[in-house]
Amino acid sequence: PPAQTDEFWLFGYGSLIWKPPPHFDRRIPGWVTGYVRRFWQVHHRGTPQAPGRVVTLISRSYWEQLTDHHDSAPEKVWGVAYRITPDCVAEVKEYLDIREINGYTIHYTPFHPAPGVDPTLLPQHCPFQTLVYIGTPDNEQFVGPQDPQELAEHIYRSKGPSGLNRDYLWGLERALHELSPESGDEHVTDLSTRVRAIAAREEEKTKRIGKI
Ligand code: BEZ
Repeated sequence: PPAQTDEFWLFGYGSLIWKPPPHFDRRIPGWVTGYVRRFWQVHHRGTPQAPGRVVTLISRSYWEQLTDHHDSAPEKVWGVAYRITPDCVAEVKEYLDIREINGYTIHYTPFHPAPGVDPTLLPQHCPFQTLVYIGTPDNEQFVGPQDPQELAEHIYRSKGPSGLNRDYLWGLERALHELSPESGDEHVTDLSTRVRAIAAREEEKTKRIGKI
């Protein structure tokens, strides 16, 4: 049987890509399969009037049963795997086990490192298991399929204590772009483009009002 390691790795596919968790010592770009990334989760930290939207992973087999305006999704969901510093694993696991964070459920899924990653930084056997937060459709914060233009308008209007929802969207677009030449995600780039168009439209409006 493959050697068991007690290494503990966490997969990030949203803000974790550019905002690392505490207590990590390695950050490896790569991908998982069997899931679809969508802006279908209510952001718990948004203002109560207009909570923003953040990404979640849903199982691909569930997604295939839905009618989604974005009717294709890449086979590979790109993100990063973080190795939790060995000295901190017990502490981090204890923390994770007691908290299913804000509408996300814990899954374990195999992670495939990007080509070209230094093998000495990786566990002996690849792919290797990573913990990932999944938005299950039965949680209160799950939204489901939305019209892309309405979703883009919503993201444009939303902000929370952690900042503007559009900065989260554009931050994700940029972070994905930096992972690999093939890590783009059409759902994310389409929403980013729509929100840029809305921002330009609103800026024009403000200018016109200024001239009256
Ligand atoms: C992420 O950034 O990958 C993430 C973090 C917390 C919950 C869900 C996803």
